[in-house]
Amino acid sequence: MALELLVIVVSYLLGSVSFSVLLAKLLKGIDIRQYGSGNAGATNTLRVLGKGPAILVLLLDVLKGVAAVWLGTWVGGWGTWVPALCGIAAIIGHNWPLYFRFRGGKGIATTIGVMATLCLWPALLAGIIAILSIFITRYVSLGSLIFVALTPVALLLTGFTQPVLWTSIIIAVFAFWRHRTNIVKIVEGRENKIGSKVKGGN
Ligand code: G3P
Repeated sequence: MALELLVIVVSYLLGSVSFSVLLAKLLKGIDIRQYGSGNAGATNTLRVLGKGPAILVLLLDVLKGVAAVWLGTWVGGWGTWVPALCGIAAIIGHNWPLYFRFRGGKGIATTIGVMATLCLWPALLAGIIAILSIFITRYVSLGSLIFVALTPVALLLTGFTQPVLWTSIIIAVFAFWRHRTNIVKIVEGRENKIGSKVKGGN
């Protein structure tokens, strides 16, 4: 039990490493949370720092999720609650990072890593539809919400274990909560489209 708790805490600490904040500090000496949408994530890194740093942030944030689930699987075994809780802990760390005054991102890249590791095919199915929606609407936030909303649906269609299904639902709740400003902006037609210039923070 102690080891299980330890890996969950380690996953939170790993998720708390905010690569967009670190890279923006390193490359431009700025706090990315003061620019663009104010979000500490890959989409805002694209706006503020450009393509290369954004791809790097995306990969590293995805890897945090993958690593947390691997860590949990190593201790708790495949299909148990331990990898699922490690994944959730990494996303909580990304969204509310210990090292950065609990002001982090919206958790989507880390969610991709977590869900692709826990359930590759349902995540891929949801991911393809989400990517298509981004191409059509140019709203990354809408694609993110479609991804998290469709993952539990895809699990129900393709088969699931209780820990993975509940994880996908909990993660979707987190994502919708973190995207509440984006949702209002989408409804009002004020949401930033990918590739467009941004004036201020949220
Ligand atoms: O994953 C974050 C994305 O869905 C929205 O980011 O910066 O447009 O609020 P942003």
